[in-house]
Amino acid sequence: MRLILMGPPGAGKGTQARVIAEYFGVPAISTGDIFRANVSQGTPLGKKAQEYMDAGEYVPDEVTNLMVRARIDEPDAEPGFLLDGYPRTLAQVEELDGMIRHTGHELDAVVVLTVDPNEIVERLLNRAQTDGRTDDTEDVIRRRQEVYGEQTEPLIGVYRGRGIVHEIDGMGEVDDVTKRIFDALDVVSQS
Ligand code: AP5
Ligand code: MG
Repeated sequence: MRLILMGPPGAGKGTQARVIAEYFGVPAISTGDIFRANVSQGTPLGKKAQEYMDAGEYVPDEVTNLMVRARIDEPDAEPGFLLDGYPRTLAQVEELDGMIRHTGHELDAVVVLTVDPNEIVERLLNRAQTDGRTDDTEDVIRRRQEVYGEQTEPLIGVYRGRGIVHEIDGMGEVDDVTKRIFDALDVVSQS
């Protein structure tokens, strides 16, 4: 399975990605998590990314694309992968198309989680108190939402044109959301 999990900041991508990836036996690849690991280790990549992340802006495509390409080339991603937070720009869509074409496979599905904007802010402010992510402040959360709306939401239309989008209601209990995703993806994996 080659899957993309899409949705605004706080929609539950990371939470759901772990469960779905395990079920399909593929790695969950979160660009945000890879960037954060690099920031905390003080790598050159982390130094490049931190400023953008703390402002709620996207890390430049050249940097992000190279990083994803290297990750997808690792052996554990050979049977497939679940991408959480990539692609987020049109240039990234094109880059990913190239990467997948190169392996002779196809993208199976794009799962889009939809969540009420007020619920999202509440979730992220809650997380700020426990997890300490530096981009979970009210200003930066708002900016992340804007950037998502401007740069990433339009990509849903691109994938819808290919007939692979599954829009899933991301409100309610985590397990209920997971069940909805599995119901949608079971149809995909059987076809
Ligand atoms: P990234 O780390 O991807 O952050 P994000 O998109 O803002 O999304 P989050 O991780 O905050 O939310 P999520 O949807 O994963 O939800 P989660 O499961 O955590 O990206 C961070 C930054 O990295 C970007 O701003 C950018 O700078 C850079 N970046 C990353 N990818 C990039 C790219 N492709 N190009 C350029 N730059 C890139 O859930 C949120 C909270 O809600 C958690 O506390 C969770 O426990 C809780 N929760 C989850 N589900 C539920 C539920 N059903 N009910 C109640 N609470 C819930
Ligand atoms: Mg996440």
